[in-house]
Amino acid sequence: MRVLVIGSGGREHALCRSLKLDPQVSELHCAPGNAGIAEIATLHDIVPTDSQQVAGLAEKLGADLVVVGPEAPLVAGVADAVRASGIPCFGPGREAAMIEGSKAFAKEIMQAAGVPTARSRTCATREEAEAALAEFGAPYVVKDDGLAAGKGVVVTDDHAAALEHAEACERVVIEEFLDGPEVSLFALCDGATAVALQPAQDFKRAYDGDQGPNTGGMGAYTPLPWAPEGLAEQVMREVVHPTVSELARRGLPYNGVLYVGLALTSKGPKVVEFNARFGDPETQVVLDRLETPLAGVLMACATGTLAEQPPLAYRAGSAVAVVVAAENYPADPVKGDVITGLEPTEHAYVLHAGTAVKDGRTVSAGGRVLAVVGTGPDQQSARNNAYELVGRVRLRGSHYRTDIAR
Ligand code: AMP
Ligand code: GLY
Repeated sequence: MRVLVIGSGGREHALCRSLKLDPQVSELHCAPGNAGIAEIATLHDIVPTDSQQVAGLAEKLGADLVVVGPEAPLVAGVADAVRASGIPCFGPGREAAMIEGSKAFAKEIMQAAGVPTARSRTCATREEAEAALAEFGAPYVVKDDGLAAGKGVVVTDDHAAALEHAEACERVVIEEFLDGPEVSLFALCDGATAVALQPAQDFKRAYDGDQGPNTGGMGAYTPLPWAPEGLAEQVMREVVHPTVSELARRGLPYNGVLYVGLALTSKGPKVVEFNARFGDPETQVVLDRLETPLAGVLMACATGTLAEQPPLAYRAGSAVAVVVAAENYPADPVKGDVITGLEPTEHAYVLHAGTAVKDGRTVSAGGRVLAVVGTGPDQQSARNNAYELVGRVRLRGSHYRTDIAR
């Protein structure tokens, strides 16, 4: 099978690593990729949000399957263009991807499908925002309606800051604060059938103790030994199946992965957000544990044959990912610094995110530069193995959280 992966982050490196390990995959391509992916796949320098370029590359390569990683190409309609050229594609089309592309649309779908989520108001004026802030009270949750690379959400007790964020965005969703631990659940979907992957937890704030600004994610681990029994089944029943059915009813069959961000509240799991793609860095740990060869599963989603697949199998034990971020991330990350100490150890390895090759050396090229994945029979050993390798990575000015999976 010839597979083309679209994207250039840590999630795409994790996808490529698992695809490379699948004996069914004869050729692996990635566009545009990064320095780590270059070691296992052939890179192609195209604009990932340009539907014609992606579909054209897939045709030229004779790809059997295209896997679209990030939200921007999905929302731009890249998966539609690939499918229109007759090539199976893993990833929702433009309209279904609006489940991530518009918070207001996601809320509308959840309401129509009876999915448990925070009560909310969509606001376009200062007056509407003020009324919604008063209705729900502190802590205030204000979300930019559109895509914002994980930085569109402000959660604060400061009324002025909440209002300022609302005014800075064209349209916002203001909602009730959900209290409780957060869980990420990925559901693989083929338009009709949906299957859950093993739940993971992500650490969104930049600094230890959940301090500092929201980021795309600073670390993750799986499995969750503390999670209630039957959580995945409950979320499939109460969230994923109703959502996918509602989308199909509207003529938007969902094909790809539906990322459900949940808060486990005292009144049960409630949806914090939907994404139309795999989460980053949760994918790095979930795919590490997934034993079932990945290409066949993604192909089954792309071709509507998920119901015929055997149940997914996982490796025992735990995986922990720790993100190493560039100086000044998330505000204005410094790029172009040399990175060393990337060699794997017996139980840990590096997945690249914002990296590039310059004059034969690996340099930083993004905010989240890489993730170290450590594995072990239990969470503590996986964590120790991850941090041991994090300690060997050298990147001037970089920072990471020391409390991932503690
Ligand atoms: P989102 O982009 O919607 O995932 O929001 C980013 C982060 O903001 C989430 O992972 C939560 O930590 C936090 N957040 C979002 N919505 C809420 C909410 N209703 N209550 C509490 N925290 C929230
Ligand atoms: N880790 C959170 C996200 O991918 O949105």
